[in-house]
Amino acid sequence: MMKRIGTALLAAALPLAVSLPAAAADLAAGAAKVKEVCQACHGLNGNSTSPDYPRLGGQHVDYLAQALRDYKSGARKNPIMNGFAATLSEQDIENVAAYFASQPRVVFTKR
Ligand code: HEC
Repeated sequence: MMKRIGTALLAAALPLAVSLPAAAADLAAGAAKVKEVCQACHGLNGNSTSPDYPRLGGQHVDYLAQALRDYKSGARKNPIMNGFAATLSEQDIENVAAYFASQPRVVFTKR
């Protein structure tokens, strides 16, 4: 009897353990982090006016988060971004990616 209850409890608890959802992205915290760290190059809304910096406003959230994880792990190499991404926690990455994704996309067409 006890054993059966124990098994049932374990079965109920397992899905929670394996699929702990990442905390929801916090846009305000993302904005604060961008203002503090990323704004200088990418602009507060992710749309830098300098051609040296990629525009991030309106980019897909998954793309942004993956780029930051890859810089952090070193899978994607860039001396500037490897350094900045290294300072970000997983929660920071979710936050800043969601924040930039929520910003206006600026499309440029070359003539
Ligand atoms: C000192 C300037 C500088 C700062 C500060 C900076 N970046 Fe960058 N960022 C760059 C440059 C340069 C690149 C292009 C690197 C490359 O070619 O991979 C880049 C690339 C990126 C990319 C990839 C874009 C793409 O289209 O693949 C993301 C995402 C990004 N930065 C996010 C951030 C975030 C978030 C912060 C703040 C935590 C930040 N950056 C701070 C200069 C900067």
